[in-house]
Amino acid sequence: MSEVDEELELDSLPGVGPATKQKLNDAGILTILDLATSGPSDIADAVDIDIAKAVELNNKARKKLVELKRLEPDFINAADLLAKRKAIDRVSTGSKNLDDLLGGGVETWAMTEFYGEFGSGKSQICHTLCVMVQAPRGQGGLEGGAVYIDTEGTFRPERIAEIAEARGMDQEKVLSGITVARAYNSAHQELIVKDLGQVLEQKKVKLVILDSAVAHYRAEFVGRGTLAERQQRLNKFMHQLLRTAEVYNVAVVVTNQVQAAPDSFFGDPTRPTGGHVVAHTSTYRIYLRKAAKNRIARMVDSPYHPERDAVFMLDERGVDDPAEDTARKR
Ligand code: GTP
Ligand code: MG
Repeated sequence: MSEVDEELELDSLPGVGPATKQKLNDAGILTILDLATSGPSDIADAVDIDIAKAVELNNKARKKLVELKRLEPDFINAADLLAKRKAIDRVSTGSKNLDDLLGGGVETWAMTEFYGEFGSGKSQICHTLCVMVQAPRGQGGLEGGAVYIDTEGTFRPERIAEIAEARGMDQEKVLSGITVARAYNSAHQELIVKDLGQVLEQKKVKLVILDSAVAHYRAEFVGRGTLAERQQRLNKFMHQLLRTAEVYNVAVVVTNQVQAAPDSFFGDPTRPTGGHVVAHTSTYRIYLRKAAKNRIARMVDSPYHPERDAVFMLDERGVDDPAEDTARKR
């Protein structure tokens, strides 16, 4: 506990005494940041109070963070908001084309979802981002660390080393800048996100990867009767992740597999089968598809990005621009 910032100590909140603090600590809520990112029902369970009181406690934590200038107030002047948004950082995906589609890269303070069928490049984008985020500012990076929450066992340190090498970065340094958490089931995945705060603070993390968001939920909640519970659990989880992006000003990137259904030739192929909860929580959604040796990305439902395609490819540099585009730009 000694490493907790004094200004973030739970008992600096009015009405939080030693007993409440202890109960919150026991539930893994160690700081005001943790309290602000916890859902009311988790707080209610931890302290054994009703939901209304838990909401109040959560609001107090948010208010304190606003005072500490670590979070936006509820009412904010639109001009201030614009100024603030200009300070949002971006991490390059490794491809200029894909970055352009995203308005410069994946944004901090937001959640970006990449969805598409198997082999469309979701995990490769995640790996490349973990390297790029560590690059110097001005070269697509934020000089920050990455957390990779791996739910499918697809994280490959060898691939990270290869991408770093191909991009002229120090392999060892890049590898040590990535914290990997293997999530074995949905409850474990939820626990990892709950405990994320400390890692983000200590390791100066600028990027959190969740690859993939819903696989465990899909596997564990089978059958019609379980759908409501699944969506509820997933909803709670995704919102906690979004709050984390906002409170810590990190880029959160989640992946979501969709099956290429035969009927999608007639319907809208950019509509994911299931995972609507993820769709509603994500700030930006990018649909990926395979096209021979290339990959095509499309921004879906963005309020201000133009609807168009970006072509990229996968090579030793991870995500990259097709050779002909790279040649044209040089
Ligand atoms: P699922 O997780 O199965 O849904 O797929 P995904 O969308 O995560 O696919 P992934 O990112 O794993 O992409 C797989 C594709 O990336 C492969 O078909 C290869 O084309 C390419 N790829 C994977 N590893 C490498 C590599 O080491 N070198 C190169 N050049 N390409 C790779
Ligand atoms: Mg994958």
